[in-house]
Amino acid sequence: MSARAATATAALVGFVGVLVLPTAAEAAQEHGGPAVVAHRGASGYAPENTLKAIDKADRLGFDWVENDVQRTKDGRLVVIHDTNLARTTNVEQVFPGRAPYNVRDFTAAEIAKLDAGAWKGAEFTGARVPTLTQYLDRIDHNHQKLLMEIKAPELYPGIEKDILRVLGKEGWLNRDHVRNRLVIQSFSADSVRTVHKRRPDITTGFLGTPATGDLPRYAQFADRINPSSGTISAGYVAAVHAFRGPHGKRLKLFTWTVNDAATARRVAGLGVNGIISNFPDVVRKAVGDGR
Ligand code: G3P
Ligand code: CA
Repeated sequence: MSARAATATAALVGFVGVLVLPTAAEAAQEHGGPAVVAHRGASGYAPENTLKAIDKADRLGFDWVENDVQRTKDGRLVVIHDTNLARTTNVEQVFPGRAPYNVRDFTAAEIAKLDAGAWKGAEFTGARVPTLTQYLDRIDHNHQKLLMEIKAPELYPGIEKDILRVLGKEGWLNRDHVRNRLVIQSFSADSVRTVHKRRPDITTGFLGTPATGDLPRYAQFADRINPSSGTISAGYVAAVHAFRGPHGKRLKLFTWTVNDAATARRVAGLGVNGIISNFPDVVRKAVGDGR
């Protein structure tokens, strides 16, 4: 609360004997609003999970970007959301007869031949599915920060170890990156737990809406609970905030995927710590960006 607001509130308390506290939304606005994360990069404007989407987020002024990591047939890590290549690449034209076109059935060299931009618009033709290494290099170049999702880890046994190896090789496990620029999340509690066990210093998030009675269990290995925006209430957000995570800090809650101003205002009013959006500029205009 600002000094002026505090004075006004104190005067009001003296006058009517009622303490007027800011709402969660007002408190969030005073601190610049929830942090806004560009989902799959600024994927409302550029092809998701490509370097173009990171660059678009950067041009819009967003530090935090979210991505999805999977593993190729020959063990390389690539950034792509679907476990199947067909929706976001021209794999059916380049490799006819290779259905069902699963990421894990193609080598990194084969995936590198695919166009991952044209589906979004002719101006994006030539965009590629980045390797995790290429992706990290670009994030570093742009001085951005990464909310990394381990996508469908049940399909890729041991992918946590692979990801940590690449992060280490690329300098992403040094003090600055681990403290300030990296969060790893997954819908798989096992995967998040594995990351936490291997590297307890990394900030982790569980994607989903666990029952409040289960939150103490999640708080043993996850610093964040990141639920879908349609599943949360003020009571749920408060329940998450009531627990401390593995680093001794209150659990945070980043919600997804919020693409319009009205929903952004609603979830900000619930007191969320972060909003993940395909249109991060729309969210920032509605509720600010606390970073
Ligand atoms: O970061 C949250 C969000 O990405 C989870 O859903 O399907 O878009 O990966 P999805
Ligand atoms: Ca994701």
